[in-house]
Amino acid sequence: MAENLKIADKADFDYIDKVYEIVTERWGTPLAYVRTFGCQQNVSDSERLCGMLSHMGFGFTDSPEKANLILFNTCAVRENAEDRVFGNVGHLKSIKEKRGDTLIGLCGCMMQQEHIAEKIKKSYPYVGLVFGTNRIKDFPELVYKALTGKKRVFDVADAPDGIVEGVPVYRKDTVRAWLPIMYGCNNFCSYCIVPYVRGRERSRSPEDIVREAREVIEKGAKEINLLGQNVNSYGKGTDFNADFPDLLEMINGLEGDFIIRFMTSHPKDATKKLFDTMARCEKVAKHLHLPFQAGNNEVLKLMNRGYTREQYMELILYAREKMPDLAVTSDVIVGFPGETYEQFRDTLDLIEKVEFTSLFTFIYSPRVGTPAAKMEDTVPHSEKVKWFTELTSLQERVAAKRIATLKGQRLRALVESFDKGVATGRTGYNLMVEFEGSEDMLGNFVELEIIDTDGYTLKGVAVKG
Ligand code: SAH
Ligand code: SF4
Ligand code: F3S
Repeated sequence: MAENLKIADKADFDYIDKVYEIVTERWGTPLAYVRTFGCQQNVSDSERLCGMLSHMGFGFTDSPEKANLILFNTCAVRENAEDRVFGNVGHLKSIKEKRGDTLIGLCGCMMQQEHIAEKIKKSYPYVGLVFGTNRIKDFPELVYKALTGKKRVFDVADAPDGIVEGVPVYRKDTVRAWLPIMYGCNNFCSYCIVPYVRGRERSRSPEDIVREAREVIEKGAKEINLLGQNVNSYGKGTDFNADFPDLLEMINGLEGDFIIRFMTSHPKDATKKLFDTMARCEKVAKHLHLPFQAGNNEVLKLMNRGYTREQYMELILYAREKMPDLAVTSDVIVGFPGETYEQFRDTLDLIEKVEFTSLFTFIYSPRVGTPAAKMEDTVPHSEKVKWFTELTSLQERVAAKRIATLKGQRLRALVESFDKGVATGRTGYNLMVEFEGSEDMLGNFVELEIIDTDGYTLKGVAVKG
C-alpha cells in the first residue's frame, strides 16, 4: 500500500515497509496509543504521524496499557502545558515496567528545546525515542532505528525548514478537518516559544491545499479548519500569487455543503480585504479569532505585537461594519513582565468595548530563551491570579450580554454530539447550541431557532430548513 503514497523522501517508503515487517512479526497486530497536547497544529501533526503508523501496520488503542508503541505529541507554550506532559510521562514508567517491550516516544514542540531533550535523556530512561517538530516526515526511519538499534534515539537538531507533501493522514474526525496552510512563525512575540520550536514561516502551495480540501470534502468533511500561527501572512515570500483572502475564496468556490474556519489571525497582518472576503464568501464562518493579548499600548510594544489598541479597535469596527453579527474571540495574557494594574485596566476596557463571545485567558508564563523571560517581573503570582479572576468575571458578563442578542434568531449548526436525546451543534459563530435531537443528525447541519441563552450556551429547537 505504501507505493501509492507521494512522500518527498524516498527513504521513508522503505522505512515504512521495514517497520511494517518488524512490528507485525514481533507483535502480530501491533497497537499504538497517540496522545496530543497543545494546539490544532499539533492535532494535525498527530494525524500525519497516525497516518504513517497506520501504514507501518499499527492499529490504534485508547489505552496505553495495551499499546506496543506510545507516542506523546507535546506542547511548550506555557509552563503548565509542559508540567502536564512531564506528569503523564511519569505515569508511563509503570507501564513500561509491566510490559517491557513497549516503545515510548515523545515528539512535538517541547522536544524541540534542548534543555527538555536533555532532561528526558537524563531522568526518563524508559523513553526510547525523542524527536522534534522538523522530523515528522522521518518518523518511520526513527521508529526503525529505535526498534533495531541498541541505543535510545534522540533527534531534535534544527533542520532546514521545508514543507513535505504527501505524508499519509489518518483523520479520526471525518466531519471536522484540520488543514494546515502554513507552518512556523516569524513574529517573535517577546513572550512566545513557538517561533523557536516551529521554525520560520513557510506556506503550502494553493494547489496542495485545495487538493487536500477537495479530498476531505469528498470523504464527508463538513467543516474545514485552515491552520497557521498567522494565517494572514500566508503566501508571503512565495511566488504563489495568492494571499490568504484569495485562498479563502478558492476554497469557498469548491463544490459541497461545508463551513470554512481559520485560525489564527494576527491583527498586524489583518486587512480590509480579509473582512470583505469573509463577508462575501457564504461558506466562511462569521467568526473571527483575533488575539489582542493586551489592551495597553506600552505592553503591546514590549510584547512586540506590531499594532496598537487603536489599530485593533479599527479592525473590529471595520469587520463589524461588513458583518454586523460577527462573533469575535481572542487570546489575552495577564501579568506580562512589568505590567501594572493601571495598564491591565486597559485590557479590561478593551474587553468591555469589543464584547468578545469568548476569550482564552492566560497568566503570563516565562519561556526559556524568549526576550520576555529576561524582563523584570515584580508582580507576585497571587496578584496576577486576582487580576485574572477580575478579567474572567467581566468577560462572563460581557459575553452573556452579547450572546443574549441571539435569542429568536435562526442559526445553522453542525451537530457534534448526541446523548440521551440531547444534541449539541456548533454554529457559524463558534457557539454551541443544545437542542432535542436524534442520533442521525450527528455530523449534519441542522436549522435551529434559538429560544434561550445561558452564559456561553444557547438552547434551541430544530426547525425545518
Ligand atoms: N499564533 C497565535 C497563538 C499561538 S499560542 C497568535 O499569535 O495568536 C496561543 C496563545 O497562547 C497566544 O495567543 C497567547 O495568548 C498564549 N501564550 C503564548 N505564549 C505565552 C506565554 N509565554 N505565557 C502565557 N500565554 C502565552
Ligand atoms: Fe507566538 Fe506571536 Fe507567533 Fe503567535 S504570532 S505563534 S503569539 S510568536
Ligand atoms: Fe503548543 Fe506547539 Fe501549538 S507550543 S500551542 S503545540 S505550536
